[in-house]
Amino acid sequence: MRSGHVLASACLLGGAIAATHQENAPAYRDELLSFLKDLVDIHSITGNEKQVGEFVIDYLTDLGYTAVNQTLPPTERFDNLERFNVVAWRGGDKHRPKNPRLVVSSHIDTVPPYIPYSIDDGEITSDTEIRGRGSVDDKSSLAAQVVAVEELVRNKEINAEDVMLAFVVGEEVTGDGMRAFSNLVAAMDPPLGLEAGIFGEPTVNKLACGHKGHMACTIRARGKAAHSGYPWLGKSANEVLVRAMMEIMSTEFDGSERFGNTTVNIGVLEGGVAANVVPQDAVAKLAFRIATGPQVGGQKAIIDKLDEILKRVDPEALSAECENGYGAVYCDCEVDGFETLIVNYGTDLPNFDGGEGFKKYLYGPGNIFVAHSDHEALKVGSIEKAVEDYKKLIKHVLGDSKSSVEL
Ligand SMILES: *[C@@H]1O[C@H](CO)[C@@H](O)[C@H](O)[C@H]1NC(C)=O
Ligand SMILES: *[C@@H]1O[C@H](CO)[C@@H](O)[C@H](O)[C@H]1NC(C)=O
Repeated sequence: MRSGHVLASACLLGGAIAATHQENAPAYRDELLSFLKDLVDIHSITGNEKQVGEFVIDYLTDLGYTAVNQTLPPTERFDNLERFNVVAWRGGDKHRPKNPRLVVSSHIDTVPPYIPYSIDDGEITSDTEIRGRGSVDDKSSLAAQVVAVEELVRNKEINAEDVMLAFVVGEEVTGDGMRAFSNLVAAMDPPLGLEAGIFGEPTVNKLACGHKGHMACTIRARGKAAHSGYPWLGKSANEVLVRAMMEIMSTEFDGSERFGNTTVNIGVLEGGVAANVVPQDAVAKLAFRIATGPQVGGQKAIIDKLDEILKRVDPEALSAECENGYGAVYCDCEVDGFETLIVNYGTDLPNFDGGEGFKKYLYGPGNIFVAHSDHEALKVGSIEKAVEDYKKLIKHVLGDSKSSVEL
């Protein structure tokens, strides 16, 4: 995206200058873009990740990795389909890596519907646009990560055994893939000793300092049905629920300097059966984006405030059920040469428990604003910048702690 800007301003200055900006395509461009095309070509809507998993295993095996499937237990939710994470490393044996210090990870599932791959006509430049489901979220992260590690290994800039790869299923729905991978790592005996993780999600090529927490709540109002001509004989669940929603909308939930304000979206409102019946039942579904920590338990303050509101409005009629809550998630973003940002979407980061001192980095090409849309797309320049930036991040992690060990 940045290179797009450079080209656009160069064009304003005339052809001669534009020509001096003719790019030096990186040597890995063809490899990177054809890998990404193959990934996007394969449908991998959550639940249906088997084929893309097999493709990634073959690809990594050809590169010389030990690449294995970590099969998840079948669930009804995904029609009992066979699903697996791809876990890969160099060194060690086929049961476990030697002692990798860094895990590099993306997810291989996408949201629906499938949108086929396409690319702008003409010569490929860094301004060329690539489209299709998963092109941004999350297959360009995956492709850029693999190429970045390859580059570093080929150029002997890192020890190949220091890095392990984890490409997981299920991120878009339940995070079951990352939780399974986290459990696999936790069960290793002796422990792997991972020091850090680099997680790929679209961050417009900036390094995220964290993302907001999340909690989904269902609020129910229970009233009493009656003829609408005699409302005093019943109790309107809709009216109670609307009063509760008004209170929620005018409440300021705690925020923080790093993460901004906690926000709430009233995503679903349902209630009643007919215009002439006093409604007995009403329900609202809310999503909170939580701007305070800690990651584990940070949602508690929101639950308490919500309870307080419901008690104030009508404790008999109202109840709340909240699930999958976690507070704001911190990432490490103190690395030279990166712009930073905070993102408001959820990721797999809370589903990986690296233990005390484990560092998490969140970075990827492309923009979340188009990620789940029907116009999901990104520029070649963004993907190539991601390769370079992943190289920097990997060297930051491995270089850093290596020098402290040598001391
Ligand atoms: C997973 O790996 C095992 C061991 O290599 C293999 O037998 C099995 O067929 C693989 N499953 C899938 C779905 O690829
Ligand atoms: C947070 O909310 C306050 C009060 O509603 C508002 O003034 C402020 O601009 C918000 N901050 C951000 C970062 O949105």
